[in-house]
Amino acid sequence: MEPLLQVEHVTICYNGKPVVQDISFELQPGEILGVVGESGSGKSTIIKAIMGLLGGGGMVTRGDIYYKGQNVVDMPSKELRRLLGPEIGMVFQDCKSALCPIRTVGAQIYEAVSEHENITKEDAYGRAGALMKKIGLDDHQRVLESYPFELSGGMNQRVGICMAMLMKPELLLVDEPTSALDVTVQRRVMEEMKLMRGEYGTAIILVTHNIGVVGAMADKVLVLHNGSMMDYGPTDRVLNHSENEYTKKLMGSVLRLRRAGNV
Ligand SMILES: Nc1ncnc2c1ncn2[C@@H]1O[C@H](COP(=O)(O)OP(=O)(O)O)[C@@H](O)[C@H]1O
Ligand SMILES: [Mg+2]
Repeated sequence: MEPLLQVEHVTICYNGKPVVQDISFELQPGEILGVVGESGSGKSTIIKAIMGLLGGGGMVTRGDIYYKGQNVVDMPSKELRRLLGPEIGMVFQDCKSALCPIRTVGAQIYEAVSEHENITKEDAYGRAGALMKKIGLDDHQRVLESYPFELSGGMNQRVGICMAMLMKPELLLVDEPTSALDVTVQRRVMEEMKLMRGEYGTAIILVTHNIGVVGAMADKVLVLHNGSMMDYGPTDRVLNHSENEYTKKLMGSVLRLRRAGNV
């Protein structure tokens, strides 16, 4: 099978200074990749580079990123924007900024879904409501009728997650979106994403500091440290049998925290 995404020897600089160096990995359709590493190791930078959203000063200075064989590094931003949403979905920590402040949640969800799918408003609302319920947005009728400012941060975040998932993208980029949500809700969101992969074959890149979530979700794991790749391989090998000193240390510290009851 042709990989959905190929990241080949990518180096990324901000203002000429490299923050991610010589990263390579690939993603098959339906594969889940967990990306772990300390804060500042370059996880978000890699996600942004895939979407062409590095912003001013940020640039892929070496290597290539192929989505379905097309190099997104060279792609005009207009063309790349067209992929975002229906093909490549994204869920960030700050989902609020993805929502328009002056339109109801329901209107925005209907617009997003109906742009790529022939669907009635009732069906879109029905599907959104069902997904909302599963991730703990129980009063979904009220949520759909609300404006983003009328909802809490955690609710907005889940609306953003719903919106990205309802578009059934082929690749979903997930950057620590649930860290602000309580543990039960986090687990439900992750379960829904895994079900989505089963149902639609969605490939997922999941950035998280929670090694337990990676163990439960990911097929492969990429470990980053100071912008360099420490490890990349099948989840069990990386989490439990790595030869890499840094990975071993990282997994060891997680175990110690868990024993101390902190994770
Ligand atoms: N817009 C930016 N301008 C300059 N440096 C940045 C910018 N965004 C991130 N960086 C730097 O790039 C490195 C990696 O950041 P990031 O990808 O956000 O790490 P992580 O997501 O793993 O916490 C950090 O040293 C950070 O300070
Ligand atoms: Mg980050």
